[in-house]
Amino acid sequence: MKLHCPGVAVVALLIIVVLTGQGCKGSDAPGGVKITNADRQEAHQIFTTRCAACHGQFGRGDGPGAAGLNPKPRNYADAAWQSATTDEEIEKAIVYGGAAVGKSLQMVANPDLQAKPGVVAALREIVRSFGKD
Ligand code: HEC
Repeated sequence: MKLHCPGVAVVALLIIVVLTGQGCKGSDAPGGVKITNADRQEAHQIFTTRCAACHGQFGRGDGPGAAGLNPKPRNYADAAWQSATTDEEIEKAIVYGGAAVGKSLQMVANPDLQAKPGVVAALREIVRSFGKD
């Protein structure tokens, strides 16, 4: 088939892309939560100061506080754990504690994060990132 006016097809495609928003997805979390750079900075600070004590700086479950824990925190580099765990479970454990997802009571709740969904989503991103290296 001979296209007489290929430019029209290109413009039509562009319009579809813009209208459906495919061109500007940004970094929204699956739940529709917007994660800002400030959220990510706060999450990194929280992970280092609160979570790494047990989970280890690289999420290997080998922080200094993990020695006395039973069960111990998981190694988040474990691909099987990553694929068996949903984003919702991760976020729920972070805000409401391990007991809320049938895990150890020693995973404490972080009620102050309830009002900060962006920071919670950014912490979930950190947990996920340990499975990618
Ligand atoms: C006092 C030690 C401790 C601290 C501090 C801690 N955790 Fe945990 N965390 C645990 C333990 C123990 C578990 C449960 C492991 C199990 O039952 O399999 C856990 C479980 C979790 C889970 C549930 C998923 C899973 O199956 O392992 C997530 C997600 C998590 N922690 C993230 C965090 C984040 C983020 C922080 C910081 C805001 C944090 N934890 C602080 C000890 C801790």
